[in-house]
Amino acid sequence: MAATLEFKGTTKHFGTQAALDGLSLSLNPGEILGFLGPNGAGKTTAIHLALGFLRPTAGGGAILGQPFGDTATRSRIGFLPDSPAFFAGSASKAVELAGRLNDMHNPRLRERSRVLLAQLNLPSAGKDARRFSRGMQQRLGIAQALVNDPELLILDEPTSALDPPGVLEVRELLLAARNDGKSIFFSSHQLSEVEQICDRIAFLDRGRLLRHGPLAAFLEESGQIEIVVQSLPLDSEELQPYQQYRSGSSENGTHYVVPTRLQRELIERAWAAGGTLKSVTPQRRALEELFITWTGDRSGEAHA
Ligand SMILES: Nc1ncnc2c1ncn2[C@@H]1O[C@H](COP(=O)(O)OP(=O)(O)O)[C@@H](O)[C@H]1O
Ligand SMILES: [Mg+2]
Repeated sequence: MAATLEFKGTTKHFGTQAALDGLSLSLNPGEILGFLGPNGAGKTTAIHLALGFLRPTAGGGAILGQPFGDTATRSRIGFLPDSPAFFAGSASKAVELAGRLNDMHNPRLRERSRVLLAQLNLPSAGKDARRFSRGMQQRLGIAQALVNDPELLILDEPTSALDPPGVLEVRELLLAARNDGKSIFFSSHQLSEVEQICDRIAFLDRGRLLRHGPLAAFLEESGQIEIVVQSLPLDSEELQPYQQYRSGSSENGTHYVVPTRLQRELIERAWAAGGTLKSVTPQRRALEELFITWTGDRSGEAHA
């Protein structure tokens, strides 16, 4: 299966600085890939290289089977820039302009615009898009990216200006787009907002790909569960192997904190030993914490 988007040793220098250093990464058809990393990591640079706005210093890549910068593929891609800008006029005017740039025509274009704006909770007429709040502008940018029903969506920080309900809407929209068979590549520096919806994540830091893989693997790595069991005979043989996970006891019973993968077995053994399950509470460390571990503590720099 050919990748929808593939970076192959893609490198970009600005002067002596390597903004992107030998990125190799691919997005498979029908997949949501979260391209994560702190500000300045090189995410926007990578996206601009893929779209042909910049030329790589070394390496290259392919998008929808064509080399980066191929103009014929452009109409099959939806792109949301990190700071969308608009001309004077209403939201529907902005969406229809994006559609016409992709060879779409009325009446189909007008109808598509109406549906998208309603989905994204935006007023279609009246207010000038330039006077929208930053969050509304971001949603309008997403409507523009979706107008041509693209196979591939590339979104640069789609949730950066949104309030929690806005983030939720975008999340749902991305899931719906994936269910429609679209492939989605999006960048973010706000990990908690995206971790639920990605199939895979890639983590970039200072131009280099630090880690990448299925989201589930990372969550597994970070996941711990607290399990409280009551009425457990202290010397129960079934639970011997779990002594190392005992974290204490309370009036509720005996507390265990185990890696997610062991929860089921512990619960079954606790039942077998005659115990009563009182509570099961995920103690998941956020991805954010994992990333801090990988990058070392550079908190001062990360949000510069
Ligand atoms: N046009 C440019 N000229 C010089 N340096 C740039 C340019 N664009 C980006 N950079 C630098 O490249 C690095 C990566 O930037 P960017 O790709 O915007 O990161 P991100 O999108 O992850 O925040 C940063 O250090 C940034 O200052
Ligand atoms: Mg950026």
